[in-house]
Amino acid sequence: MAKRETFGSRFAVIMAMAGSAIGLGNIWRFPYTVGEGGGAAFIIVYLISSLFLAMPIFMAESIIGRTAHAGTFGSMEKLAPGTKWKYVGLLTVIAPLILVSYYSVVGGWSFEYLLKALSFSFNADSMDQIDSMFGNFISGTWGPLLCHTLFITATCLIVLAGVKNGIEKFAKLTMPLLFVLIVLIMIYAVSLPGAAQGVEYMLKPDFSKLTGRAVASAMGQSFFSLSLGVGVILIYSSYISKDENLLSSGLGTAGFDLLFAMIAGFAVMPAVFAAGIEPGAGPGLIFQTMPYIFVKMGMDAPWLSATVSILFFLTIFVAALTSSISMVEAGVAYLTEEKGLSRKKAVFVILALTWTLGVFCSLSFGPLGDAKIFGSTIFEACDKLISNYLMAIGGFLFTIFVGWKMSKETVRNEFTNYGKFRFNDKVFGAVYFIIRFVAPIGIVAIFLTNLLFQ
Ligand code: PHE
Repeated sequence: MAKRETFGSRFAVIMAMAGSAIGLGNIWRFPYTVGEGGGAAFIIVYLISSLFLAMPIFMAESIIGRTAHAGTFGSMEKLAPGTKWKYVGLLTVIAPLILVSYYSVVGGWSFEYLLKALSFSFNADSMDQIDSMFGNFISGTWGPLLCHTLFITATCLIVLAGVKNGIEKFAKLTMPLLFVLIVLIMIYAVSLPGAAQGVEYMLKPDFSKLTGRAVASAMGQSFFSLSLGVGVILIYSSYISKDENLLSSGLGTAGFDLLFAMIAGFAVMPAVFAAGIEPGAGPGLIFQTMPYIFVKMGMDAPWLSATVSILFFLTIFVAALTSSISMVEAGVAYLTEEKGLSRKKAVFVILALTWTLGVFCSLSFGPLGDAKIFGSTIFEACDKLISNYLMAIGGFLFTIFVGWKMSKETVRNEFTNYGKFRFNDKVFGAVYFIIRFVAPIGIVAIFLTNLLFQ
């Protein structure tokens, strides 16, 4: 077997992991779930969930992946040979593939909007059509399908280039750029007339609006945003060298992810209020509100508007790509390591599977809109299955594995690099306790709430 690749440096690890974490979850999903969940109170629950549920899962996945230096199947075989734990591997092959299929559809929308921005489509003449522009596009057949096809193909081409030459290079180049872009856009958004209301919505909690469902949704969002429970962090951690400090790379990744989500929230929410759109408008939120802002801006400063709109949709598109490559890598790692396929063949198989499922997801906004699974469209069903169920189940199993199945010594050694990192040694007791008790109990409690409030 070929020698297993590793990331070249800590910077590379954090950029690749942050590349996976920062994506549509931050720019597309976070603002609309905040809007549906009622604003600041939702954000507080999201932060608590990130710290006490998501972070422990992140550490658990990191510890498993780096200890075994293998994908999920391989890790389970190595660390718990001959047990049923290997079936967790199955979950981490299937889940990322379902995920990337519908993720690619939204990635495709962002590509279409980038093209719209590049062709100066957000101009004064288009004001009346802004509302219908999005609906008309996604309910079509060929346009969204073509965009989905381009997006998933681009993803697969990067993965084909390998961990170091593809994923690492792409992430190192694009992630710093993304930060600069989103900060610029936020600065513009908060300076808009009417923006103050949006800022207040993000900062002033109203706990009376917080429902059980919103709490569950905040947990789902914290998992989704950190790419948890589907084995992606586990796989990336298996490419981390033995000298690296897992706690620093984990905190670095989570810190960037959180920061990015908040900045995106402060870029989008003021725009929502300035445009007079309902914050709970759902998945179309950024595609409906931001163009409205660009048109308005264009009335005073056409060039500025064109530039900002191009940057905005470019940011979403690139952020989505760095995430989708991590999902495809999960499937490719499985096929190459467990099934002995060449990287090329593996990428091709994954491309064929995810493209096909993605076609159904894409068409579920138009011609297949009436095909319902338990009352949801195909797209909604895939998203619910992943973010409400599989991520929570996967996260729960990973924390149980590290907390109860692996020996405490192994976990401590991996977490502290055999005592080399003093700080990690000091906090190990608390981290271990959270992984063993707090996270699994919290996940089950919220999972049950979610079932009750469906
Ligand atoms: N974290 C990514 C985002 O926020 C989505 C993702 C989930 C990526 C799970 C990989 C695995 O867009």
